Amino acid sequence: MRILPSLRRLVVSLSAIALGAALFAAPAASVEERVKELLGRMTLEEKVGQLVQYSSREDMTGPATASSIAPQMQSGGVGSMLNIVGAAETRKWQKLAVESSRLHIPLLFGLDVIHGYRTIFPIPLASAASWDLERIEKAERIAATEAAAAGINWTFAPMVDIARDPRWGRIAEGAGEDPYLGSAIARARVHGFQGDGSFATTETILACAKHFAAYGAAQAGRDYFTTDVTERVLREVYLPPFKAAVEAGVGTLMPAFNDLDGTPCSANPFLLDQVLRREWGFRGFLVSDWAAVEELRAHGNVTDLRDAAKKAFLAGMDVDMQSEAFGPYIAGLVRAGEIPPSRLDAAVGAILGAKFRLGLFDDPYRFSNEEREKTAMLHPESLEAARDLARRSMVLLKNNGVLPLRTADLTVALVGPLADAPLHQMGTWRGQGRKEDVVTVRTALEQIYPGRRLHYAYGCDVRGNDTQGIEKAKRAAVDSDVVVVAVGEDVYQTGESTSRTSLDLSGPQLALLKELNSAGKPIVLLLMTGRPLLLEAVEPLVDAILVAWHPGTMGGPAVADVLTGAYNPSGHLPLTWPRSVGQIPLFYAHKNSGRPAPLKQDDPYYSRYIDSLNTPSYPFGFGLSYTSFGYDRLRLSAPTIREGGAPLTVTARVTNIGKRAGEEVVQLYVRDRVGSVTRPVRELKGFKKIELAADESRDVEFSLTPADLAFWRADMTFGAEPGDFDVFVGGDSTAWLTMPFKLEASR
Ligand code: BGC
Repeated sequence: MRILPSLRRLVVSLSAIALGAALFAAPAASVEERVKELLGRMTLEEKVGQLVQYSSREDMTGPATASSIAPQMQSGGVGSMLNIVGAAETRKWQKLAVESSRLHIPLLFGLDVIHGYRTIFPIPLASAASWDLERIEKAERIAATEAAAAGINWTFAPMVDIARDPRWGRIAEGAGEDPYLGSAIARARVHGFQGDGSFATTETILACAKHFAAYGAAQAGRDYFTTDVTERVLREVYLPPFKAAVEAGVGTLMPAFNDLDGTPCSANPFLLDQVLRREWGFRGFLVSDWAAVEELRAHGNVTDLRDAAKKAFLAGMDVDMQSEAFGPYIAGLVRAGEIPPSRLDAAVGAILGAKFRLGLFDDPYRFSNEEREKTAMLHPESLEAARDLARRSMVLLKNNGVLPLRTADLTVALVGPLADAPLHQMGTWRGQGRKEDVVTVRTALEQIYPGRRLHYAYGCDVRGNDTQGIEKAKRAAVDSDVVVVAVGEDVYQTGESTSRTSLDLSGPQLALLKELNSAGKPIVLLLMTGRPLLLEAVEPLVDAILVAWHPGTMGGPAVADVLTGAYNPSGHLPLTWPRSVGQIPLFYAHKNSGRPAPLKQDDPYYSRYIDSLNTPSYPFGFGLSYTSFGYDRLRLSAPTIREGGAPLTVTARVTNIGKRAGEEVVQLYVRDRVGSVTRPVRELKGFKKIELAADESRDVEFSLTPADLAFWRADMTFGAEPGDFDVFVGGDSTAWLTMPFKLEASR
């Protein structure tokens, strides 16, 4: 009996020697050659194994498999895992896969590294408000470096869903409402995670653009719900960030939970095959969202699990996350001739290709390095980058002069449930972020206002109706020169499956603000949130509003930097901030309609509400600074551009007209006055973040090409149409500095 294990070991090492001579094991061969050779050795079942992905544990997003998957792993029946973390743990599973399976194929380890692994950066919606592509890219590189040291070689990020409905909790995970900004940020995030795509260093990992597509268009803002999106809107609004991610080389995509024009994205050939692979030339692979293949049954477009597996796989889905649909059924479907073997080889080839590119065949443990894991986390430079991105993400919406706070002589009341709340400060999808690593607003402000110069009071809960602590908070206010109130959303109110019908401050938070207001001291509202919350009732009660979002591990010092003016705020809204839920969806790039304004005085028959203005509380692109910026001298290089000709140069002078240095996000919008289909009133077509000293002026230049004016025309071809346009330059989407120009057809 004792001889058996050693016999098995002998067989394993003999086969390893045999495989060592194989082309797929030879690093010098090209990835394509190695994939082809390996595919030639695989049985049907081994190929199907590559399509199977399991979670290691029970997960909050759905039911995980309870039974041990080790035997399946040994037979080559698993291709990737998710939610296994740590170098030791990933190494253990990798060893099992590599040493006990016949072909020694390594596993991929995926995880939702959404805004940091251990060093938690501000939530993605927040970092989008920085409009700072370089720093966003750097943050993802740090996240990748930390995750990679812990064995993770694949992140389910970036989430590039355009979201125009803040009732939807997942608005926190994306870059806001605009396809141009969203595309720029998608590229930055993909480059951050994947570098140049060679994976030559262990500071890069495979990325996954999700959720493909129009997940943010869920009707009524209800997560996972159905959508009703025309192909034009799909292509103009929801698809561009995915296309940008594909052009940036993203290795994988995740189809969305929702359906699209009646076909769930997970089994949608138009989306997964026609658009993604044929039109865009995507060569990577697709991973389903959690149990999404199985959920096709509930959608009601398949009869059973076998049918679900067949439809999803034929449409183009490659990896089945946690549905147990591909594993049991794909081999049978191939044998029955219902799935062509070429489709299976294409899927498996793409998965193996990623494993080769990641270097896993040459060193399966390359990402699972316990030594590196010990030293890679929370580097001082990483924490500094997190602090820097957090303060650059904060958006100042109101300031009647109370900010910045003096540090030498003030006594500050710091009040509110989010002032000292490490968990909530990290926001949704916290990776391996730990509460004990977080520097809260309270901790940071205590250092600046030591001893009795800071009066902290919790105030009230974010939710519920306990108002007992409010009195103490008011006393703190009375005893201080100024009040900083940290209210907003807790982590359970933001992210996946947290749709809201009310966007008011929840629980007794408004009551807290009212009571503080009666103390008669200047109030700074520090809004810590994953989405816009309604401010119409709040704004009159406070003297300043700083949107800090959920700012991450170093959010406290970042808040302190902005409050005290150590950093001059420069964030601008990546979405429109509505006045009321009734206005939603509200976004700047809307259509004009036939009745945009009254034709004559007192004419009520135009597009409006009888109980609200049409305008938002704060427009897309808006953000104040402790200085202000003036715009003038808008110039165009020519009154006309020609298709196929030289680009138009748009120049405007921006001047810092305040008393201190500051950064401004200079934005360029275009309006196409007449199209074969109606066009948005404005579209963002460029932005530059610049820094100006007090009194400094600078000419800021943008280049516009006819391609920038292209859209999906009446006949659903993509291109620009000759005619009249307007260009606008300014500090938000209501920019008033404007000039007309013409696009002429090529001669
Ligand atoms: C989410 C995805 C996530 C996946 C794996 C799902 O519930 O929709 O965004 O990547 O879980 O954790």
